Amino acid sequence: DAVELGQYRHYMQKEIFEQPQALANTLEIIAGGGSVTPQLFGTRAPELLGGVERVLVLACGTSYHAGLVARYWIEAIAKLPCSVEIASEYRYRESVAHPGTLVVVISQSGETADTLAALKHAKAQGMQRTLAICNVPESAIVREAALRFITRAGPEIGVASTKAFTTQLAALALLTLSLAKLAGRLPEADEARYLTALRHLPVAVKKVLELEPEIERWAQRFAGKQHALFLGRGQHWPIAMEGALKLKEISYIHAEAYAAGELKHGPLALVDKEMPVIAVAPADELLEKLKSNLQEVRARGGELYVFADAGSEIHESEGVHILHMPEHYGMLSPVLHVVPLQLLSYHAALVKGTDVDKPRNLAKSVTVE
Ligand code: G6P
Repeated sequence: DAVELGQYRHYMQKEIFEQPQALANTLEIIAGGGSVTPQLFGTRAPELLGGVERVLVLACGTSYHAGLVARYWIEAIAKLPCSVEIASEYRYRESVAHPGTLVVVISQSGETADTLAALKHAKAQGMQRTLAICNVPESAIVREAALRFITRAGPEIGVASTKAFTTQLAALALLTLSLAKLAGRLPEADEARYLTALRHLPVAVKKVLELEPEIERWAQRFAGKQHALFLGRGQHWPIAMEGALKLKEISYIHAEAYAAGELKHGPLALVDKEMPVIAVAPADELLEKLKSNLQEVRARGGELYVFADAGSEIHESEGVHILHMPEHYGMLSPVLHVVPLQLLSYHAALVKGTDVDKPRNLAKSVTVE
């Protein structure tokens, strides 16, 4: 292990820091002059992706959160209705199948029993346009799907998924652009802009990683807490969910995520000075709404930890801690914002002394029901 870990203390930390390279590898196909083509998803892709009328994403755990982010992209950019469902729920409920659906299964391992069963169930319901986004090329899920996109995160050892998640998002961004292009909804100038942003992503993530020392200080304050609340809006709501999942998985601190607009409908009752509230607050069109949610938290004594960027104009004050993200990143902003949340949970777990790479009761790949 010592050889493999090199300068890092745990696989999770190493894998968090491998993200720029993992993203660069996954996005190699569009490096240089490469453009978005359906062929990225396999030889049958032009036939199976053309004419898609809606998208259904099925996954578990962190991979499910990647699907939730993609829903915002697919509906906004490709203009296709998209639903995202937990695989273990989908496989056991009576649902209405639609033959024009593209079924997308997302899995790091490609072996998650519920995701595989959900894919088989979708096929049995008559949906033959299936795509696996997976980190393991010869896995059961990849073999079962008609189309594939292999993320190139490299082996992920830490139970808490990190680099697999961000590379899944990169793959889902390419899928969104491909679907938009096939549907005639991607003007050339927009495609060029998205491709530039994707090519810059590894460098952008690298800059975020430089925030580690500040995040470590936050984690020190946090590690003694029993509960934490994560808030986000829009495409950053699933990032808040992923941040909460990471924290509970490895530090055993109870964490919940809420779409910030729902705060008043329940969780605000929990907020007091013992409840740290982490907010994902990039300067996007929802920022003003989010700020008023944050004031509600502050008014109840909740301590705020805010991931903002230069344009967010939220200022440090008593009980309000701000960490400035280096860049504002539009559609791809969720990829950047999940990184500090990974680091936060990693450092909180270090302070608590839990087994970061092998948290109690959890498995890397859940191959039984
Ligand atoms: C387990 C892992 C998670 C992972 C989930 C889905 O719960 O601990 O990190 O997100 O399975 O795994 P998959 O391999 O299908 O992405």
